[in-house]
Amino acid sequence: EQINKGTYKHYMQKEIHEQPESLNTTMRGRLIRGGSSNGKNVLLGGLKDHLRTIRRSRRILFIGCGTSYNAALAARPILEELSGIPVTMEIASDLLDRKGPIYREDTAVFVSQSGETADTLNALEYALDNGALCVGITNAVGSAIARKTHCGVHINAGCEIGVASTKAYTSQIVVMAMLALAIGGNTISNQSRREAIIDGLFDLPNKVREVLKLNQEMRDLASQLVAEQSLLMFGRGYNYATALEGALKVKEVALMHTEGILAGEMKHGPLALVDENLPIIVIATHDSCFSKQQSVIQQLHARKGRLIVMCSRGGAASVCPGGASRVIEVPQVEDCLQPVINIVPLQLLAYHLTVLRGYNVDQPRNLAKSVTTE
Ligand code: G6P
Repeated sequence: EQINKGTYKHYMQKEIHEQPESLNTTMRGRLIRGGSSNGKNVLLGGLKDHLRTIRRSRRILFIGCGTSYNAALAARPILEELSGIPVTMEIASDLLDRKGPIYREDTAVFVSQSGETADTLNALEYALDNGALCVGITNAVGSAIARKTHCGVHINAGCEIGVASTKAYTSQIVVMAMLALAIGGNTISNQSRREAIIDGLFDLPNKVREVLKLNQEMRDLASQLVAEQSLLMFGRGYNYATALEGALKVKEVALMHTEGILAGEMKHGPLALVDENLPIIVIATHDSCFSKQQSVIQQLHARKGRLIVMCSRGGAASVCPGGASRVIEVPQVEDCLQPVINIVPLQLLAYHLTVLRGYNVDQPRNLAKSVTTE
């Protein structure tokens, strides 16, 4: 495996741009598109002896830290939809602080790029002690989490050097979407949905290639935002995670205070911050939450918010009351895969903001790629 920057200036930049390829590697050999209409399926070899137990579990817990937690949050809705099993989210350190109850009937899914994060590893020991079935989703073959879990899936995204995780995030979401397909029953009622997701997965690398063409546009946006002190990102549904992860990227590399906000919570506090100066990115691509996001945009607009709206391609008119906002148009994909597309412009924004502000892109101040102490 080639671990150099090639023609890129920074590893983070390289890793953002190689996502079409890393996603292909993640899916290679795992998606089956047979000739007949019911021939489309998912094959995750590392889970095959445990799928029956996972399907019978009373609850699935997603456990991780940082970007890995956000990736699990992005996949939660599709896992709930296809499996019908309650899915709860746990930040590893918080689970341990609370000693939250875990049972033998639970499946605990540990998501970690490095497979070595101390908090996630400690949470794994705790879940093992409590008798849960433990599944690992990691990028590092032979890592502690890969070794100690009962079964798992490697994301195969290739080595990630930049401290800010980018390609591992999108590959983690894709693996968890495949996990949802593998756990969820293949019934007549959900067959067309499953097929749409599998077709969407096959086409996803092409769509990521398209969204990467926004590079220059995101550099321009970065130059407008370079001197700001704060930035807000609003998302909901599938893209609540996108708001959290976009904000984490800008915060960790560009060292700009950025907050990811669940749009449904807007009236319970964040609305007080809105004025003509604070830039707000609203993620409003087309899905079942779209009309609610339109209403959020209208309310922010009515309070003279400085809006930057991310919408589905061709949808600018439907998200832009009075044409006042700046718009980022992205390709539309199956709703549960849209977070993979929507994070890319925000990764690019974080990257360009960092370069323009003159900070270290690949080694942000005070941060480490793998946090192996509590
Ligand atoms: C550190 C890294 C993050 C990463 C987090 C979890 O904070 O800087 O990029 O998301 O650890 O790491 P993991 O390897 O468990 O995914």
